[in-house]
Amino acid sequence: MRIDGVVAVVTGGASGLGEAVVREITNRGGRAAILDIADEAGARLEAELGGGAVYCRADVTSEAEVTRAIELTIAKFGKVNVAVNSAGISSPSRTAGKKGPMDLALFERIIRVNLIGTFNVTRLAAAKMIGNDADAGGERGVIINTASIAAFDGQIGQAAYAASKAGVVGLTLPVARDLADSGIRAVTIAPGIFDTPMMASFSDEVRASLGNSVPFPRRMGRPGEFAAMVIHVIENSMLNGETIRLDGALRMAPK
Ligand SMILES: NC(=O)c1ccc[n+]([C@@H]2O[C@H](COP(=O)([O-])OP(=O)(O)OC[C@H]3O[C@@H](n4cnc5c(N)ncnc54)[C@H](O)[C@@H]3O)[C@@H](O)[C@H]2O)c1
Repeated sequence: MRIDGVVAVVTGGASGLGEAVVREITNRGGRAAILDIADEAGARLEAELGGGAVYCRADVTSEAEVTRAIELTIAKFGKVNVAVNSAGISSPSRTAGKKGPMDLALFERIIRVNLIGTFNVTRLAAAKMIGNDADAGGERGVIINTASIAAFDGQIGQAAYAASKAGVVGLTLPVARDLADSGIRAVTIAPGIFDTPMMASFSDEVRASLGNSVPFPRRMGRPGEFAAMVIHVIENSMLNGETIRLDGALRMAPK
């Protein structure tokens, strides 16, 4: 699919990896709707990017809010042909410890945002994409999810996060198969460690040591490198139904 004809909904688009995707798509002549619950950051980014982007408040777990945001995007830009799922949360907690078992509500919340939220946006966006005119290559849409290498090598305290991301990896192929007849692709990117506000809670020392744990390049990933992968997935029609690790060969240790 050509980037300059893209109208994307980008969840988590007000920060970190999602923000980098919004910037890259609009830089290349596409349009992007920022779906997020961070009103101030979303409005600031919309204002900075001028007519190429719009902020639509939407909690990814809400059918009503995501439906409204997709409809607003279509009203403003004429269609939606790309959905990038980047909204996500992480809150480490051990399965059980001296203080007792992990809070089940926390486990459910992480699954709800990261896994159910991703599927919610996917199904609602895909339902609209099916009505798009196919491009010269027969494509009507592309869905790009953000998992994590924790889906494969989850660390201590990451049972909920790793399960949510493994769920995203698991739904990638069946979603691609479900939507293949409609000319819609689904691809997941599994990032390693990227320098975003999600990492800001760590001290400089911890952040340096995280970067040092990457075989090569020996540093954290840059949000622009994630966005570059998203652009490639959009442009390369043969990528479908697969999860791509973007991690500098990092395989995470237990902690
Ligand atoms: N940064 C990393 O190292 C890393 C590594 C692997 C995977 N990831 C994944 O990449 C994605 C983006 O992470 P990031 O580092 O950019 O984080 P971030 O915290 O900078 O951005 C996440 C954005 O998602 C939004 N969000 C949270 N809950 C939401 C909800 N219910 N509805 C709508 N928006 C919501 C937040 O407001 C925020 O703007 C996440 O799914 C994360 O799990 C990040």
